[in-house]
Amino acid sequence: MLHKFTPGAIWPDTSGVHINAHGGGLLYHDKTYYWFGEHKIEGRAGNKAMVGVHCYASLDLYNWEDMGIALPVSDDPDSDITRGCVLERPKVITNAATGRFVMWFHLELKGQGYTAARSGVAVSDSVTGPYTFVGSFRPNAGVWPDNVSPDERHVPDPAVVQGEFSGGPRDVVDRLNILGRDFAGGQMARDMTLFVDDDGQAYHLYASEENSTLQISLLTEDYLAPAGTYVRAFPKRHMEAPAICKRQGRYYFIGSDCTGWAPNAARSAVADSVWGPWTELGNPCVGEDSEITFGGQSTYILPVAGKDDAYIAMFDIWRPENAVDGRYLWLPMRFNDGRFELHSVPEWDLSTFG
Ligand code: DGJ
Repeated sequence: MLHKFTPGAIWPDTSGVHINAHGGGLLYHDKTYYWFGEHKIEGRAGNKAMVGVHCYASLDLYNWEDMGIALPVSDDPDSDITRGCVLERPKVITNAATGRFVMWFHLELKGQGYTAARSGVAVSDSVTGPYTFVGSFRPNAGVWPDNVSPDERHVPDPAVVQGEFSGGPRDVVDRLNILGRDFAGGQMARDMTLFVDDDGQAYHLYASEENSTLQISLLTEDYLAPAGTYVRAFPKRHMEAPAICKRQGRYYFIGSDCTGWAPNAARSAVADSVWGPWTELGNPCVGEDSEITFGGQSTYILPVAGKDDAYIAMFDIWRPENAVDGRYLWLPMRFNDGRFELHSVPEWDLSTFG
């Protein structure tokens, strides 16, 4: 039995195998935590989805039982989630009205690099799955965000806008109206998370506009699609790896810069509404290697059930040369004076929250 977290170390599941749930998110359901993440295989090939979304269950957050593959990739070459696609950062939420479990993820179609920039959706009546793939799309086609001015609402000549993008060369993004380019076909959606507010409204936060601008989009009541209301947040800040929580009525955000698999300095922000305006609070990491987020990149923030004011920030330490060896860095958030800090510690446990 494990009784502590050891950030960055091999994390054996209850069978002794390193947990395989990268870019993950947690769901608390029926007194049990469920961890969903990308199942990776060995080598560089593991950066593609060869297996699917892996699910683990835990009662204490330290010891995780392997519940198997919740959403397998498809053997049908015509499926959007055919083996060899890129399927990243899966997140699962529960819909109280339908009783269903809804999974969203970042999907790149097989053989197309990172150009598809789509959102995938899957559903299940059982938390551990199997999940049924519903479809993939670019969100918010034909809808302008609420917070753009009338002058920004124009569709540029597509011939002028097509350029070479890979993570977003900043000068190109500055010159072109990518939002307008993608108005008809839907907005690009890469790194993402989901957030369910106290009132049951759910939101999709995703890196859009060639990764240059995060968009925050309301989901329909069944959580299966964008509801058609969204905003641009952190315009031109190239914010990836979004994670969010609500604490004492305020919303806190962790993200990263946009440097592929290489770690960079984390960012943090606060807002009084999910819609913003968001105020950036800088790099929340403190101490040695804080400028590279201790080697990690954010993926999720977990409010610990039954504990007051206890939030765990979760990061991945990517190992792109041998993807399956990616590590997990879970750190307690220390709130103070309207902001929070993250300190790297070799080990810790939940008693840190009192
Ligand atoms: C950084 C993202 O945060 C990851 O999820 C992944 O998409 C890599 N980039 C790919 O380079």
